[in-house]
Amino acid sequence: MTIPLVFAHRGASYDLPEHTLAAYLRALDEGADGLECDVRLTRDGHLVCVHDRRLDRTSNGHGLVSARTLAELEALDFGSWHPGGVAGDEPLDESHTRLLTLERLLDAVLAAGRPVRLLIETKHPSRYGRDVERRLVTMLRRYGLAEPGPDDPVRVTVMSFSPLAVRRIRDLAPALPTVLLLEVLPRWLRLGRLPFGTRIAGPGIGLVRARPQLVPALRAAGNQVYVWTVNEPADLELVLAAGIDGVITDRPARTLARLGR
Ligand code: G3P
Ligand code: CA
Repeated sequence: MTIPLVFAHRGASYDLPEHTLAAYLRALDEGADGLECDVRLTRDGHLVCVHDRRLDRTSNGHGLVSARTLAELEALDFGSWHPGGVAGDEPLDESHTRLLTLERLLDAVLAAGRPVRLLIETKHPSRYGRDVERRLVTMLRRYGLAEPGPDDPVRVTVMSFSPLAVRRIRDLAPALPTVLLLEVLPRWLRLGRLPFGTRIAGPGIGLVRARPQLVPALRAAGNQVYVWTVNEPADLELVLAAGIDGVITDRPARTLARLGR
């Protein structure tokens, strides 16, 4: 059995509010190999870690993330909605409730003092959609993370459902590994062949369940496969049997325990 890398989806987001610093630090404490994070642009061009286009589900704000400035978003509470936000003996502090900027996440990952894989997903569309990849690559260059070496402790991979976004990353930073995320199988995709030199496929667990031949075909063609979002024990068994390279989960501790790690 291939032992997959374990990536914490939006942090340890089953237990703590997604995309908060507390959720990411918990995942690192639990021993996750890597972290998954979605990024969007604010109205004034800052990269922030928020999944939804709108603020309503994960904060006490309303409307589009892209319609607000960073300062406006910093004033919101991104944690109290989550039932686990104050759970256990972990004292509630701003790491559970404050907006996470990509800069703060990169600072935290670099300060972790141990190897971390970071999967950054660019979200679309917004009025500033095309700018997301450009600003992301500029920031990664500033942090020295745009040309990852095999021995670098922090290694970034960029993901998107949008083939155009993946192509933009490959044009802007050819050394950055990319993942093409797949919710369904697009008609243009030849099984096993990924576009633009991408070597990692990211199918959803629903697609893997529906298409048992997908993972073997992708791997036989020389690709790696990272599957999201694998939270249920039966799904974990399915992807382990299929021999995947990375598992993206809201529950890193439980996943690592199953792997005996
Ligand atoms: O890791 C990929 C996965 O996060 C894609 O779906 O909606 O959770 O961003 P979503
Ligand atoms: Ca994501």
